[in-house]
Amino acid sequence: MKTAIYPGSFDPVTLGHFDIIKRASGLFDCLIIGVLRNSSKSYLFSEEERVNMLRSVTGDMANVQVCAFDGLLVDFCQEMHADVVIRGLRSAGDMEYELPMAAVNRKLSEKVETIWLSASPGYAAVSSSAVREILSYGRSAEGFVPEKLVPFVDGKGAGNAAGKEKLTLISG
Ligand code: PNS
Repeated sequence: MKTAIYPGSFDPVTLGHFDIIKRASGLFDCLIIGVLRNSSKSYLFSEEERVNMLRSVTGDMANVQVCAFDGLLVDFCQEMHADVVIRGLRSAGDMEYELPMAAVNRKLSEKVETIWLSASPGYAAVSSSAVREILSYGRSAEGFVPEKLVPFVDGKGAGNAAGKEKLTLISG
């Protein structure tokens, strides 16, 4: 059984992330989405919100699980019996960030391989940071995040009371 981990901050999950999730779930028996719980970093969306947004959009994908993790990614991989890390690549700039990270992970554990999936056409300009910027100016995240999350994500935007829209929790 081949298990891969797709780690990230997912603050919030975007259509680009969702595209990678769909493609990676078709390549592996099990795909675990690892949501970084980093208490020293400030996120727009809480850990619970980031996990629940991902669960809400992957609820019908039988081989996909969503878990929050702390600490080193390679330790999380070991805990989950996963030997592949999946990351998405949109640009050469992403590669500059990704290569050293993969090199550190490789030095920490030779068992873990990083595999990159290139962004599908149309998603190269989609990022969580772009979504946060758009929200900060009071514009909608429509076209950047999965359709069913738009009301919830927009609820975090400038001028909207945070959490106004309730996200239906899907456990699993
Ligand atoms: O979505 P992001 O913020 O680009 O994801 C970054 C992530 C979560 C993959 C990375 O920060 C990570 O793996 N953090 C866990 C700590 C770790 O293992 N560090 C060693 C590699 S530099």
